[in-house]
Amino acid sequence: MKRILVTGSLGQIGSELVNHMRKIYGTDNVIATDIRRPENNEVVLGGPFEELDVLNASKMAEVAKKYDVDTIVHLAALLSAVAEAKPVLAWQINMGGLFNALEVARELNCKFFTPSSIGAFGESTPKDNTPQDTIQRPGTMYGVTKVSGELLCDYYFKKFGVDTRGVRFPGLISYVAPPGGGTTDYAVDIYYKALQEKSYTSFIAEGTYMDMMYMPDALNAIVTLLEADPSKLKHRNAFNITAMSFEPSQIAGEIKKHIPEFKMSYDVDPVRQAIANSWPNSIDCTAAKEEWGFKAQYDLPSMTKDMLEKLKIKLNIK
Ligand SMILES: NC(=O)c1ccc[n+]([C@@H]2O[C@H](COP(=O)([O-])OP(=O)(O)OC[C@H]3O[C@@H](n4cnc5c(N)ncnc54)[C@H](O)[C@@H]3O)[C@@H](O)[C@H]2O)c1
Repeated sequence: MKRILVTGSLGQIGSELVNHMRKIYGTDNVIATDIRRPENNEVVLGGPFEELDVLNASKMAEVAKKYDVDTIVHLAALLSAVAEAKPVLAWQINMGGLFNALEVARELNCKFFTPSSIGAFGESTPKDNTPQDTIQRPGTMYGVTKVSGELLCDYYFKKFGVDTRGVRFPGLISYVAPPGGGTTDYAVDIYYKALQEKSYTSFIAEGTYMDMMYMPDALNAIVTLLEADPSKLKHRNAFNITAMSFEPSQIAGEIKKHIPEFKMSYDVDPVRQAIANSWPNSIDCTAAKEEWGFKAQYDLPSMTKDMLEKLKIKLNIK
């Protein structure tokens, strides 16, 4: 990988991935793009940046050629809760954007990475230790686009030889950029509110287990899979990966170890709860471990300690 184009680079993942990759591959070799160009943004100011709507196929090809990229990391998408509120737009962006990005990868012979999600599973999927290869009949537009995206990436590899790779991310927890409207966002919001108000009202019900991962592990996973020896990859796209599985009262309990007065209450959002209920409790990531050495460093206690330390600095809380 010499030159990497990142779409949707100002979101929760891209905001950290671009800086991470610029440190590894060199500032000028990571071309960040997004539909918006905010002022005073580290990604925009820290290296090459282009405004790019992923629905604009010709502009995407133009930018990729201008910088002579050999790798595309496609992140632009609408997340689960937003996609459920705007299903038509979600189909257009999640599928249209992916198709355009795959076409550029095909034309320019680029390596390709895009994330799928635990949202690609549904009600009829086995909920515990969910296998890599299993039933995928999601009932959300987000899930429909994620399963379709997995298939499309497989197709581009088999039919055209495009070097596609991808993971099914669980809920990602980070302190740099806010999450973009997903079902697991509560597990980020809770840390902000714990520090600011010493209390949090969860929109996800007690007892709802979902897989999660701290952002440093997600960034490592992307780079490790992109660098992996292709001859070892039996699967290519949509590797199950996870670092921990917990439910709201467990994260609250962990926060209480640092902020004893912290109080948790519940006001369940039926839309996001229904989405959460249709997702696995915990997924099996044996294939990712065996085929490219996936490993997560952070568990719930170590993530909580780090999140609270980093957020205290960010929010200027003594
Ligand atoms: N964050 C998570 O917890 C999580 C979990 C599983 C999978 N994923 C997947 O990872 C990818 C990135 O997620 P994220 O959390 O960074 O998302 P996000 O919502 O935080 O960011 C998405 C970015 O895409 C941009 N965007 C939206 N429409 C665009 C368009 N038409 N053209 C160009 N850019 C556009 C937005 O401006 C935003 O900066 C998505 O495919 C998502 O489904 C994320």
